Order: sequence, then structure tokens, then C-alpha cells
Amino acid sequence: MKNGLEDVVAAETRLSDVDGEAGRLVIRGVSLDRLVERATYEDTAALLLEGLLDRPVIADDLKTRLGRMRAEVFAHVQAADEALQELPPVDGMRALIARLPDGEDFETVLRLLAAPAVFLPALLRLQKGETPVAPSPSLSQSADILAMLNANLPSREQVSALDAYLVTISDHGLNASTFASRVIASTRAGLTSSVLAAISALKGPLHGGAPGPVLDMLDAVGTEADAKTWLGHALDRGERLMGFGHRIYRVRDPRADALKGALKPLIATGQVDHDRIRLAEAVEQAALAILRERKPDRPLDVNVEFYTALLLDALKFPREAFTGVFAIGRTVGWIAHAREQALEGRLIRPRSVYVGPLPQAA
Ligand code: ACO
Repeated sequence: MKNGLEDVVAAETRLSDVDGEAGRLVIRGVSLDRLVERATYEDTAALLLEGLLDRPVIADDLKTRLGRMRAEVFAHVQAADEALQELPPVDGMRALIARLPDGEDFETVLRLLAAPAVFLPALLRLQKGETPVAPSPSLSQSADILAMLNANLPSREQVSALDAYLVTISDHGLNASTFASRVIASTRAGLTSSVLAAISALKGPLHGGAPGPVLDMLDAVGTEADAKTWLGHALDRGERLMGFGHRIYRVRDPRADALKGALKPLIATGQVDHDRIRLAEAVEQAALAILRERKPDRPLDVNVEFYTALLLDALKFPREAFTGVFAIGRTVGWIAHAREQALEGRLIRPRSVYVGPLPQAA
């Protein structure tokens, strides 16, 4: 048995390929560095969904339809009562998505892509005692998310940075949440059920729950000079350094560089906290050195979550919302995998090895 199903192949996919030795991510035949340079969120969604739905998906058309759908799903924000507003944002978002109808058609897909983009900013505003901002259907998905979050039109650099983030994390092989989505799809339960299961898998700290704790770690480190000592003590306590390590990558996660690149225009135009960036660079260098020293047999490098934390912080998302933003971007990957599974796969039903007690002889 392979603990954690490491190296077990559980699906064939045309959606994305993660090469952990080379540090390369390919999404539908396009390498991540090229995709992130050229594609918007809508382009990437159309690319991932191509041929998997009951009608063709064209990026421009998707932008218009998603805009309209954001306006439609905004009505569901009214269901966010006080108890729901008190939940962590990703849980509140999941609770609102659970109220949406299940299905496998194009309308369901549009609803599932639009809903998290609307629910997360609305919940964040409600938590601060502010009125949710209604969507602007003519904006792109990224621009509208930021407009709904901050109640003003975002800068060009901010929109590009969020687009780069959503593209970068759109799909990533058979990670835990995508596997969860495929398991549900294999029972034909419907895409809303797949997305709900995937969000539940994503929120754990070993998966998409890591970027908030990355900022907590930077705060705890405090100053560049203290980085090495603080990290050493954390490892002594048996803690893991958040934003480092990966099941597949044995080298640097290519998504970390895509996001580092996406931060540059924000840095150049003064739209970031420069002290935070300098501290993060120092922590990254110190962590790489100390992990090499302490874990010489296990190559541990920076993963996507480290730069996610810096980018989403620069875009003014509160840290407790980072997992929810991850879900906004990854939903299209979950849906594409669920459709691929439903169209081409069988019911997923592995076996277990019984190691419990045997029945007593009578
Ligand atoms: N800090 C310190 N040590 C680490 C780290 C880390 N971040 N990651 C792995 N290790 C060590 C483990 O302690 C273990 O050491 P040991 O053999 O001496 O006990 C060894 O490396 C192997 O660890 P595993 O848990 O077997 O590795 P696995 O492939 O299961 O874990 C994971 C991958 C969960 C991402 C891990 O690296 C980790 O916990 N990282 C920190 C959390 C994080 O950043 N998560 C986001 C991942 S990216 C994503 O999901 C979108």
C-alpha cells in the first residue's frame, strides 16, 4: 500500500501535467509561464473547459455570461445570516454554494464559476459591518472581484495581478481537492456536489489553507535579522515551515515564480508594503538554507502558497480569506476534472486492506 497514494496513478487527464523533477506545469498543452503571460482568467477557463460541456466555451462569450451570472447569484448573498457571517470566509462561501442547484449543464458551470467570486467579497464586507457591493457585469471576473471587495475600481496592475493568480492556480494535476472532485463526479452526484467536496479538501493547512499561516509566520519572524533563528526554533518545535515543501515538486514550484513575476508591476508602482516584501525575501533565503541543512535527504523548496500570501496581501484580501480566493481560481479546474471523470471514467472505488481484529471463534 502507498501511504498517501504517493505515485499512484488514479486518472488519465488532458487538463494539466505536473513535472515534479523539472519543476514544470503544463495546462492543456501550454506551459504555465506562457499562459500566465498571455491569458486572462476567462481565456484560461475557456481553455480548460473546451470540449467538456454541452456547448462550446468561447472566452469573450464567457466573460459576458459570467458577468450576467455574477449579477444573478448576488441575490443569494441575502441568505448570509449572522451565524453564516461568523464562519471563516471559506466556510461561509461553501455554505452559500451549498444552496445552489446541482447539475452538469453549462448554466450550472457558469453559476459555480460566478458564485464564489461574488460570495467571498460580499461575506468579507458583511463581516466588517459593510454593505456588499453589487457586481458590475461588464467587468472581467478579476476586476469585478476587486471592485466588490474594495468598493472602488481597481488599478490595471491590480487586475493583472489577480488575473495572473487565478490563471496560475487554475489547475494542478490530481491534487487532494481535485481528486475529491473527481470521486464525487464518478458517482454522478453533480458539479455543485463536486465543488463542495473540493472546497472541503482545499481548506486544510496541508493544502490550500497554508497562505494565511505564511503571513502569520512572517509576522512572528518580525525582522530580517531574526529570520534564521526564528525558523530554526520552529523546526526544533517540530513545526513545518508554511509555504515550503510539496508532494510532487522536488525543485522550486513553478507557480511561485509566476506569482513572484505577477508581484513585480505592483512593486514597481508602489502598490505593496515594501517592508513585507523585503522580510519575505529574507525568510525565503533563510528557510531554504536551514531546510537544506536540517533535511538533506528531502529536497524542500518554496511552494505556490508563499507568494500567494504576498500577492493576495498586496491586493488587500485579509489573510483569513486567502483559501477562499484559491477556491475562486481552482473551481474551474475542479469542474473540468469532474466533467472529464463523468465523461470518460468509471465509479472510483478503491480497496482497503483490513488490519483490524479477526472475529472470535464461537
Ligand atoms: N517544513 C519542514 N519540514 C517539512 C516541510 C516543511 N514545510 N515539508 C515537509 N517537511 C519534511 C517532513 O517533516 C518530513 O520529514 P521527516 O521525513 O524527517 O519526518 C519530510 O519533509 C517529508 O514530509 P511529508 O509530510 O512526507 O511530505 P508530503 O509530501 O506528505 O508533504 C506538504 C507535502 C504537505 C505540502 C508538506 O511539504 C507541508 O506540510 N508543507 C507545509 C504546508 C504547505 O506549505 N502547504 C501548501 C502546499 S501547496 C498546495 O497544496 C497548494
